[in-house]
Amino acid sequence: MSTSESEWRQKIDPDRIPGHVAMIMDGNGRWAKERGLPRSAGHRQGVETVRQIVRFSSELGIKVLTLFAFSTENWRRPAWEINFLMSLPEQYLHSELPELVKKNVRVKLIGDPARLPEPVRRAIDKGLRDTGGNTGMTLNFALNYGSRMEIVQAAQAMVEADRQGKLRGPVNEALFTSYLYTAGLPDPDLLIRTSGEYRLSNFLLWQLAYTELWFTDVYWPDFNPVHLLQAVYDFQQRERRFGKV
Ligand code: IPE
Ligand code: IPE
Ligand code: MG
Repeated sequence: MSTSESEWRQKIDPDRIPGHVAMIMDGNGRWAKERGLPRSAGHRQGVETVRQIVRFSSELGIKVLTLFAFSTENWRRPAWEINFLMSLPEQYLHSELPELVKKNVRVKLIGDPARLPEPVRRAIDKGLRDTGGNTGMTLNFALNYGSRMEIVQAAQAMVEADRQGKLRGPVNEALFTSYLYTAGLPDPDLLIRTSGEYRLSNFLLWQLAYTELWFTDVYWPDFNPVHLLQAVYDFQQRERRFGKV
């Protein structure tokens, strides 16, 4: 542990760790460009950051970690980059699954699996199966995830359920939430976006209604446990009012 890491750790109240942290992992391409490397090198380094941040988050006591890995809009990228990005979940899970099992981490997927290539779906399914009984941190991968798509699909599913006479009660916030990919998960307490962009890019629009937002200029491949501790520290200084006085 670096001095800086232990110093930041001491500043943090261990009893008020945000339960659900969501991250928009951005800036891989620019990280690579600054080094004169291909964008793929940034994505590769980004996976190393995922490894490190997942381990650290579970040790810190975060209950749910949601990572935005591929958006419904990312299909607009060149084919070679899409293919490269689609090879990463398999690689990550192949090398990291034993560690996740050991650390009692439960893997989950949010997003539409239909368009994901077969090998990705297989790797994710194995991840879900092998960690399904785990009771520690939930590691939620957002893959082919788009918030507007999620909301529209929820509306479609409710209409269909109603048509079949199977709608479980009046349409209210609780019922609507139960049709989202995130059903059963608490809303994020803290959202982190790296790379100096100040937007949500179609991520968890419903779920972020009262989330604390934290932005950093650091590119995702450079994001490390100290940055996460800084974000948690900032979070702990804030007063969440939820509309009250
Ligand atoms: C994040 O890095 C990875 C994905 C969005 C899949 P980018 O690839 O968006 O990197 P920049 O934003 O071009 O630097
Ligand atoms: C958001 O990053 C999506 C992921 C991190 C997976 P983008 O790089 O795709 O977002 P924009 O295009 O800059 O809004
Ligand atoms: Mg980007």
